[in-house]
Amino acid sequence: MTAGSARALAHPNIAFIKYWGNANADLRLPSNGSISLTLGGLDTRTRVSFDPDLRQDTITVDGHALSGEAEKRVVRVLDHIRQLARVGARARVESRNSFPTGAGLASSASGFAALALAATRAAGLSLDTQELSRIARLGSGSACRSAWGGYVEWLAGRNHAGSYAVQIAPPEHWDIRDVVAIVSRRPKAVGSSEGHALAAGSPLQAQRIADAPRRLAVCRDAIVQRDFTSLAGIVEEDSDLMHAVMASSTPPLTYSTPVSLAIQRAVRQWRSEGLPTAYTQDAGPNIHVLCLPEAEDMITTRLRSIAGVLDLIHTAPGGPAREIEFDDPE
Ligand code: DP6
Repeated sequence: MTAGSARALAHPNIAFIKYWGNANADLRLPSNGSISLTLGGLDTRTRVSFDPDLRQDTITVDGHALSGEAEKRVVRVLDHIRQLARVGARARVESRNSFPTGAGLASSASGFAALALAATRAAGLSLDTQELSRIARLGSGSACRSAWGGYVEWLAGRNHAGSYAVQIAPPEHWDIRDVVAIVSRRPKAVGSSEGHALAAGSPLQAQRIADAPRRLAVCRDAIVQRDFTSLAGIVEEDSDLMHAVMASSTPPLTYSTPVSLAIQRAVRQWRSEGLPTAYTQDAGPNIHVLCLPEAEDMITTRLRSIAGVLDLIHTAPGGPAREIEFDDPE
């Protein structure tokens, strides 16, 4: 068949219950399920054009050509889609992030979710969100959650068909804000993919995985019931547990800086004083400070007063990956 072009947009997400470690690294089947919130206001926009005149896939992100491992991950997703759609042509992929790469927010989740949607549409396929999430997962695990908007759970599964994301609740279910405190703009020394491979070497990882069903259930219930106190407790516990696994891997991974730790301490203190807020930290030093809308101004003022906080990025629950028209503003 002849294939064409399509454009799609997707948002990043912040994990409340983290994905850390793979049961199958090639298929990105995670060692445990995870739960996240899709973050509106930030996005990746990707255009995919299958072109019979191209001799190889050409991929740019923010105007720069991808090469090496990063390029291979994209080609792998494209190959999967070509096989599904019986398309032979190579593709031109142009991707842009609305947030700077140096902002320390992972763009792989929004990037691979936008790619999965744009490339399947360009190849003439019309897939449901669960199937899109499986395809996005092949590029980056956390990307499967960005196929959906709002509150999302990635069911770990035991094979490709069984490992996909479902929506727990739409974005309008609960207005939680994520104020991202940027404490470093330096690219991280060890990326997530390398980090996942080290997880099994930590003596704490088996315990973390065994206890994951409990943490997932507490988090799911807190979201359904809009219980911020319960959510705050489980989100911080899960984040701390992942960083304990990282710290006890060989070699150990330390993503926190003294400023990251100072923010975490401050957030715990503010919650004990009655502010509805909680922290979570991914594979980098920046701290995601979650809060209810009524606390956002106060949290913003207080975060700004912490020495070493370089910038704050404000987000609210966002929608699913969606197709966009060619004449949509960039
Ligand atoms: C700490 O999805 O970035 O953010 O599959 O290798 O691309 P790859 O890893 P990635 O890992 C995310 C790790 C995390 C936790 C999470 O988002 O669940």
